[in-house]
Amino acid sequence: MLQLTTYALAAISSIPLALAGPLSKPTTKFDWSSTKAVIAFGDSYTYVQGTQGRQNYSFIGDQFNFAYGTETLLSNKIVQNQTGTAEGGPNWIEYLTNCGVKEGLTSPTSCKKQLWDFAFAGADISTDYTPLHHNYTLSLENQITQFKQYGHTALSKNKQTANPKHVLVAIWIGINDINDSAKYEVPSFREFYKTLTETLFASVETLYDLGYRKYLFLNLPPLDRTPGNQAKSNPSPNATQVAWYNEALAAQACVFGQGHGDVEVEVFDAHARLAGMLDSPASI
Ligand SMILES: *[C@@H]1O[C@H](CO)[C@@H](O)[C@H](O)[C@H]1NC(C)=O
Ligand SMILES: *[C@@H]1O[C@H](CO)[C@@H](O)[C@H](O)[C@H]1NC(C)=O
Ligand SMILES: *[C@@H]1O[C@H](CO)[C@@H](O)[C@H](O)[C@H]1NC(C)=O
Ligand SMILES: *[C@@H]1O[C@H](CO)[C@@H](O)[C@H](O)[C@H]1NC(C)=O
Ligand SMILES: *[C@@H]1O[C@H](CO)[C@@H](O)[C@H](O)[C@H]1NC(C)=O
Repeated sequence: MLQLTTYALAAISSIPLALAGPLSKPTTKFDWSSTKAVIAFGDSYTYVQGTQGRQNYSFIGDQFNFAYGTETLLSNKIVQNQTGTAEGGPNWIEYLTNCGVKEGLTSPTSCKKQLWDFAFAGADISTDYTPLHHNYTLSLENQITQFKQYGHTALSKNKQTANPKHVLVAIWIGINDINDSAKYEVPSFREFYKTLTETLFASVETLYDLGYRKYLFLNLPPLDRTPGNQAKSNPSPNATQVAWYNEALAAQACVFGQGHGDVEVEVFDAHARLAGMLDSPASI
């Protein structure tokens, strides 16, 4: 995972204001000025190191250290150093929020836009479809279960996150899922990715029920064009699989948005952005 991550995120790190860029379905734009905090879920693309986290994997806890108290979360600090992210420096969500970018320790509570990041390096969506990378890995599903049990309660005691309507939820997931399952013998990858993204959005419903109304999803980068895949005649995953997954994600995001009249949902086209950089690196 680390190699893919470094590769893709080195590129995205150079576009700190991802939200300002073109979104795939720009029906509305988030009101960034009223956004007081970002809550993130995902994998190593998104995880940040916390003083209460597992080294190289998380901001707080893991599958074996599932419970935490309000004080533990609110006093936790983001660690920024060479091993503080999978990118060897600040990652996209730290740039987006400008929280945790500086070397050393940052309390999210000290940031103008607070970053509460529950992403776990190496995560897949659910153990229903792909095995955990390690026994301590928190799947996306379990990140959200854990958040419901402990994180949400803790953040309700914190001024900037007390009202979920001022919070943006950012989710980037699927990179490990599509890689781990690329050679599965499934009757239809299209159907399989639909099931995966339905499971993802079943967890997102949990966040909706907690009151969160603004959602940012990022789609899969051109994973068929990683250095490792460029060296192969048959990339795995291939471009078709990546496109199918991204179609499934866009479709589910649409279903979620239409199913609730009161949510803002954006899918940022990380694929187009990063493919564009690969196609014409000189024009960046
Ligand atoms: C992708 O999956 C293959 C096969 O399961 C595995 O060997 C490889 O380590 C994975 N790559 C990453 C970057 O996780
Ligand atoms: C964290 O990652 C760095 C860089 O890959 C590695 O040198 C270090 O041993 C890792 N730490 C742990 C506790 O796994
Ligand atoms: C980064 O910080 C972590 C946590 O404080 C520490 O364990 C790790 O050794 C540091 N890495 C480097 C390269 O300084
Ligand atoms: C987790 O996996 C490690 C390494 O495979 C093993 O040593 C450890 O006992 C496992 N822990 C639990 C609680 O299963
Ligand atoms: C990619 O892989 C899928 C699943 O094996 C296959 O159906 C499809 O034809 C492949 N596409 C390309 C361009 O190789």
